[in-house]
Amino acid sequence: AKTRHFKWDVEYIRWSPDGEESVVMGINGQFPGPTIRARAEDIIAVELTNKLHTEGVVIHWHGIRQLGTPWADGTAAISQCAINPGETFLYRFKVDKAGTYFYHGHYGMQRSAGLYGSLIVDVAENEREPFHYDGEFNLLLSDWWHKGSHEQEVDLSSNPLRWIGEPQTLLINGRGQYNCSLAAQSSKPPLPQCKLRGGEQYAPQILRVRPNKTYRLRLASTTALASLNLAIGGHKMVVVEADGNYVQPFSVQDIDIYSGESYSILFTTDQDPSKNYWISINVRGREPKTPQGLTLLNYLPNSPSKFPTLPPHIAPLWNDYNHSKSFSNKILALMGSPKPPPYNHRRIVLLNTQNKIDGYTKWAINNVSLVLPTTPYLGSIRYGINNAFDTRPPPNNFPKDYDVMKQALNSNSTYGNGVYMLKFNTTIDIILQNANALGKNVSEIHPWHLHGHDFWVLGYGEGKFSEKDVKKFNLKNPPLRNTVVIFPYGWTALRFVTDNPGVWAFHCHIEPHLHMGMGVIFAEGVHLVKKIPKEALACGLTGKMFMSEKNN
Ligand code: C2O
Ligand code: CU
Repeated sequence: AKTRHFKWDVEYIRWSPDGEESVVMGINGQFPGPTIRARAEDIIAVELTNKLHTEGVVIHWHGIRQLGTPWADGTAAISQCAINPGETFLYRFKVDKAGTYFYHGHYGMQRSAGLYGSLIVDVAENEREPFHYDGEFNLLLSDWWHKGSHEQEVDLSSNPLRWIGEPQTLLINGRGQYNCSLAAQSSKPPLPQCKLRGGEQYAPQILRVRPNKTYRLRLASTTALASLNLAIGGHKMVVVEADGNYVQPFSVQDIDIYSGESYSILFTTDQDPSKNYWISINVRGREPKTPQGLTLLNYLPNSPSKFPTLPPHIAPLWNDYNHSKSFSNKILALMGSPKPPPYNHRRIVLLNTQNKIDGYTKWAINNVSLVLPTTPYLGSIRYGINNAFDTRPPPNNFPKDYDVMKQALNSNSTYGNGVYMLKFNTTIDIILQNANALGKNVSEIHPWHLHGHDFWVLGYGEGKFSEKDVKKFNLKNPPLRNTVVIFPYGWTALRFVTDNPGVWAFHCHIEPHLHMGMGVIFAEGVHLVKKIPKEALACGLTGKMFMSEKNN
């Protein structure tokens, strides 16, 4: 194993992700940020300097469990203080498991501002993947607004709410096309054909392949809002990895991918080699007001300018949830994967509702809308500092008579710091319960992401979860994941073991939803956390504590 060193400067740069010049948050002058490539068991050391002038920054390593290094999780106000302008912070952590991951800002809405990139971990030397391929590609998927992230934050925090609306453009590796299409003949709504030379910042990254080979395509979604469906025109895909865990291979025509998820698929270039093909992404779960994102699968030696004869794959209807559910249900652990413990020690049921608090539109979990304290929880809990946050435990469940099919009233919703104290080394079941939002007949998709852990997905169901659903849990081969979706009016059950001392966020990965309070905090075994670097906690009450230590 190696230590891999990186020196990164985070700064705002002018960039043209979709042909319209914008201000984006870049790393070392690049958007998206540089790809980290490592091997399992390596140490990653990123020296991050904040060159933003007027705002703090942190970076979260999405999917990396941070075993033994909870202070490197990169969550502002949870695992560390935001890094001040001009300051440098060292993220040093082990990547213990091969897989497809990514990183992103985790302070305010900095992910929406474009602060993200890929993190790919190969198997350790002398180890092999449980499948074969001749080459690989990596696609990081995102969505883009022309309205800046600060303006979005203000709008989302306004009374009445000013919703950010749908993204202007879908990006593949930070590249998309606004007001034109690469496949104009089949674009709905009609758009003019893009005229690109290929060197533009918003020109698509073309995938060059040879006939009759098998390729691995790594996919990860860091969208702020959009759920996506991806397809390779004319080609089947075999899903082999999800969130850094191997799955029982299965074959599909198109794949759903929610914000926070990653997959690897294999495809074979077994189609007519004299042609090129489209790779397309489309919005799911929300009325599509964003044109599809496209790039080209270029069979060599064809010219990349050879226009595909086949139109892009026709995506399933945006509200065809049965299609999505059938896909989710196909995801099962590869034989030989770790199995969940047969019983839990505690079950927490989390009701997801949209609420009004003093006229402001918020999201709440069991009626508590998350606000973060000024002192990071990791420090205040580790050092037993009083009054750092509201320690009243949030509810373990929601009232039995709550009707998840009806419009939310939730007249007694409050703000809170949302900390569930979990006993160390116990098995926790979480039931994520969806419900009707504020509007009539509205229930949205929410992809929930857990920090510090993978969890087993035990099952999905419709309507309100009930005790008899437990019998239907899959304890035989549930997939391990770090992100899982709840479908409209449905529930999702998951299980994990509290074996990683630290304070971990568990939240909806839709950036505006998290901003509006859609998350909770899990604290486990914090007394076992080894020496936290002081630089991680030089703010709030822990900052004061270090100052007075110095003075004595
Ligand atoms: Cu990728 Cu807390 O998120
Ligand atoms: Cu959400």
